[in-house]
Amino acid sequence: MSSAVASKRSNKAPGPKHNIEAVRQQYYDRIAKHDLAPLWKVLKNVVTKEPVTRCAPAIWHYREIKQLVMESGPLITPEEAERRVLVLENPGMRGESRITNTLFAGVQMILPGEIAPAHRHVSSAIRFVLDGECAYTAVEGEKAYMAPGDFVITANWAPHDHGNTGDDPVLWLDVLDFPQVNFFETSFAQEMDAPTQTTKREDGDSFAFYASGVLPDGAPIELNRSPVINYTYSRTRPILERMLKAGETDPRHGARVRYANPINGGPVLPTMGACLALFPQDFQGRKYRATDGTVFVCAEGQGTTSIDGKTLEWSQNDIFVVPPWKTYAHAAHKQSVLFSISDRPAQQMLGIWCEDTSP
Ligand SMILES: [Fe+2]
Repeated sequence: MSSAVASKRSNKAPGPKHNIEAVRQQYYDRIAKHDLAPLWKVLKNVVTKEPVTRCAPAIWHYREIKQLVMESGPLITPEEAERRVLVLENPGMRGESRITNTLFAGVQMILPGEIAPAHRHVSSAIRFVLDGECAYTAVEGEKAYMAPGDFVITANWAPHDHGNTGDDPVLWLDVLDFPQVNFFETSFAQEMDAPTQTTKREDGDSFAFYASGVLPDGAPIELNRSPVINYTYSRTRPILERMLKAGETDPRHGARVRYANPINGGPVLPTMGACLALFPQDFQGRKYRATDGTVFVCAEGQGTTSIDGKTLEWSQNDIFVVPPWKTYAHAAHKQSVLFSISDRPAQQMLGIWCEDTSP
């Protein structure tokens, strides 16, 4: 090719084939004015080959956070705060009031003589009691006194209030499903007329009525949430011991029970499920991963959980989170009990939950 011809060609304006990106961008700009966008530009980000999460592994050591929660006592009353709670913010999602993408977690404190006034909301809540006696949660007229290790449920739209009739502060872990409720933009909440509810039932009535192998005649045979208010540690803990003795121990999860809705055997709530697991001393768990990000609380003992190469060391009342689809394994240095909660029921009902028992 002569230099004259080459010069002539290089001065020629490029055709559509040669500047396709510019043509495409002009097209994207035009369709954007009609609120349209090309899926092919984002497809790999929205339909990922594996779960992608912003949730980070994290641990809150009780010996550190208890003091900080106690400091909030003189700063604000439960009436002013509605609930005196410090949020456990996942370090990967600061400012979003969540510990996983779908769960809120916080540590609530109620001081002697205080009342956290009655209200209700669409979000369901669970409490796992960390410290102290003589506080109660009243749910729909049943006052459940709470002791460490108790698992208390406040289901969707159930009126509830809290009080402390003892001499010591009481602290518990709150986990709520409001990130899920807010994803669907279906939140409602209401303060009740009186700060406390009229108690119609005795503490433990719901467990006696619904979790004793009998049901009140005429009770609904379909209910997607548990009618039990309090699954006490004193009743659940010995079952784990019996499972351990019977050899009913999973190599990943230890001797573990799932809290069940006694009406249908399903999860206690459609949005959140919980388990309690006992690990013998020197337990070395196999690796595991599942699509439900899980919050753990150490109710007893001492051990470690390795998550994708990061090791979290836990002891009594420490709270930690394992993100979705991250490989983890528990190890117990002493005989230990771990409480856990996740959104697994919601994922299972939507048909999207999966696990990998040998990652
Ligand atoms: Fe509440």
